[in-house]
Formats: sequence, C-alpha cells, structure tokens
Amino acid sequence: MQDLDVLIIGGGAAGLMCAFTAARRGLRVVVVEHANRVGKKILMSGGGRCNFTNTGATAANYISGNPHFCKSALARYTPWHFIDMVERHGIAYHEKELGQLFCDESSKLIVKMLLDECEAANARVLTSCSVERVDAEGDRVFRVHTTLGAFRTRALVVATGGLSIPSMGATGFGYELARTFGHSLRPTRAGLVPLTLSGTHQQRFADLSGVALPVTVQCNGASFSNQMLITHRGLSGPSILQISSYWQPGDDLTLDLLPGRDALEVLEAQRAAHPGALMHNVLADVLPKRFAQRLCEVWLPDLPVKQYTSTQLRDAAALLSRFPIVASGTEGYRTAEVTLGGVDTTELSSSTLESRRVPGLHFIGEVVDVTGWLGGYNFQWAWAAADACGKAV
Ligand code: FDA
Repeated sequence: MQDLDVLIIGGGAAGLMCAFTAARRGLRVVVVEHANRVGKKILMSGGGRCNFTNTGATAANYISGNPHFCKSALARYTPWHFIDMVERHGIAYHEKELGQLFCDESSKLIVKMLLDECEAANARVLTSCSVERVDAEGDRVFRVHTTLGAFRTRALVVATGGLSIPSMGATGFGYELARTFGHSLRPTRAGLVPLTLSGTHQQRFADLSGVALPVTVQCNGASFSNQMLITHRGLSGPSILQISSYWQPGDDLTLDLLPGRDALEVLEAQRAAHPGALMHNVLADVLPKRFAQRLCEVWLPDLPVKQYTSTQLRDAAALLSRFPIVASGTEGYRTAEVTLGGVDTTELSSSTLESRRVPGLHFIGEVVDVTGWLGGYNFQWAWAAADACGKAV
C-alpha cells in the first residue's frame, strides 16, 4: 500500500493538468490511466492540431444545469495562462477563427508539454492501469486498488472524461463512482455531434452529400452562424455540431439559408436584375447550385421569377430565412466530441471542485455537468477546473 496525497483517475486533459499543478506544491501525486497512453483525445482533437483554447472563453460559452458554476475556475485560469505555458514550451500556434487557437504542427506537442510538466513536478503517470475498487475510510482517506497495486490517498480526483468515442478509452466509470458516493447525475447525452435525418427528409438531402453552405441555425433560443455540411446520414459542419448540444428529439430546428441578409430584398433585387431567369438559377447566385436546384424541385415553383406573385416571393423568402429541419436523432457517442450532463454541480464547490458530500473527493473536466461550445472551450474548461482543483487539493 503506497501513501499519496493525491490520486487522479484519468490521464486526459484535466487529469494531467491537475497532476502537475498539485505536484508543484510538493504533494505526492499519481495519475492512473487505464489506456495504454495518456491524452488520446488531445491527440485526435482539432484534426490532429488540438484547438487547445479559445481566447474569448466566458461562462456564456458553456451549457450546465448551473450556468454560473464554471465562472470561478474560468476567471482564475484564463486562456492567457494556458497560452503562456504553450509559449514557454516553444509550441507554435495560430488563430483559425473566432478566437480558436490551434498548434501549427501537432497535438502531440500539447501532450508532451503536459507530460514534461508532470515529470518536472514529480507527478507519476501510470498507463495501462485499471482501478479495481475504491473504498472511503473515514475522513479524507481513500484506498484505491488498481491492477498496478494499492494506494492510500487523502485526496481522490476523478478526471475520467465523458462517454464520447468509446474506442479512445471513454468509460462511464466516473459517473458510476459519483453515484456510489451518493452524487446526483444530470442526464448524459451526446453533444457537438452530427444530426441524422430519416425518411423523406433524408431522401431529399442524401444525394447532396458533400454540399456545404453558410447558415444560421436556431433551436431552443440558441443560434449559431457557420458552415453546414450535408452528409449521407444527415447534417454536420460547425453550425450543426454547435446546435446539436441544444437540440433534443422532437425539437424544432430552423435554418437561415442567407445569413445576415434579408431574403426578400435578395429575391426582389434578383427579380429586377434577371426577370426572365428561372428561380433555381436565381438561387444558384446565392446558394450552392445543387442545393438551389433541390429547393426548386421540392419546395419552390421553378418559374421565371417575374411570374412569381408578391405573395409567392414573400413565401419563398420566408422559406429561405426559416427553413425547417426535422432531425431524427444524432450520430451518438461514436462521433460526438463531448458528453452533455454529468456530475451535478450543486454538490460540488465551484472554487475547488471538491465534493460537498465526501470531503477529499473531487471531479474535474468533462465528467462534470459543464459542456463547452465547439472551438477550444472544452479544453479551456478542463485546464481551468484542473488548475482550481490542483491548487486546492
Ligand atoms: P479526457 O477524455 O481528455 O480524459 C479522460 C481520461 O480518463 C482518458 O484518458 C480516459 O482513457 C481515462 N479514463 C476513463 N475511464 C477510466 C478509468 N476507469 N480508469 C482510468 N482511466 C480512465 N475540445 C476542445 O476544446 N478543442 C478541440 O479541438 C477538441 N476536439 C475534439 C475532437 C474529438 C474527436 C473529441 C472526441 C473531443 C474533442 N474535444 C475538443 C473535447 C475534449 O477532447 C474534451 O472535452 C476533453 O478532452 C475533456 O478532458 P477530460 O480530461 O475531462 O477528459
């Protein structure tokens, strides 16, 4: 039985960050990772270039049962703190769009940086190590039995992430542990995930697979403007991934196909300029050609625009600005970037991430009911929560 100050379950973004933050304070820290290597999601993130933070991250970019919960950690560990570490390690990066920072070269550099920091601070990282049992023994004493031996620790940090991409090591272990210790969970579901269509909805779009266009998508009061991509199974692209976190089966989704423009003004101007043109040609000036054609095969009369009555033109404009989408589901955890829901924040301290039920027990990162938008926000939450915990534990 080895004595520790902190045992962290999960060697992902939050677990590694927490490990060196706590170890820098002279604490004896071990990270237990069941996969054969740490940080697998970091490695695959951002298309291999890791969108490691977002310079505009605020609490407004997160979904949680308590939207205020993430404020404390995010305010104390900002994107600039992480950027400072990235620069100290000589990792080149660039802004892609909307404050999203990516490595110029490879996500591997972020994992290496985290491991180098662990080594410098004397935090031990054990891979291919599974937790077999966790016992709480009185006040702030936990016995953790693993496949690589048993540990007695005064603090236990759960950093096991969410359920997305099971092939990368995701498990529901953190949620089960939370439940065992009497914590409530908010229902989990896949977020930042492509939406699927079925029946005629799917048939109308499937052969347009590969077509992309900018849209503003709205659902349940949330709205995102970015590219949408039509896929064989439904819809994807940044705007759709974003809105998927706000969508639940049965909810209405609408698309503005001419974002930032008044559709009626666009159509009237086109009618004045090309009165004899067929509607699909008129629309092909402002939309991808195949998409414009499909609109006129299914939804709009393909007449010369001069033959459109005022009412018909208004109806066409209304369709373009509030195009209804009936999604049948999502692609699920197989392709989701994140898991919504998780350990209920009402039973955690927002400043230390410690359990209010079990002193010494902490939950950090994605396992907590805090989920960011697409664009580096999820890593920023992982870093910030880990820093808050690592400094308090
Ligand atoms: P994370 O999942 O990183 O780590 C959890 C660790 O715990 C894993 O290593 C896992 O193997 C381990 N584990 C699980 N169960 C265990 C057990 N029983 N015992 C021991 N270990 C266990 N975010 C972002 O901000 N920018 C981006 O570019 C991307 N891109 C991206 C792409 C893809 C494909 C995905 C799936 C996700 C993203 N994300 C992202 C989201 C981001 O990866 C995610 O939010 C963070 O990795 C969460 O960090 P955590 O440390 O909480 O979990």
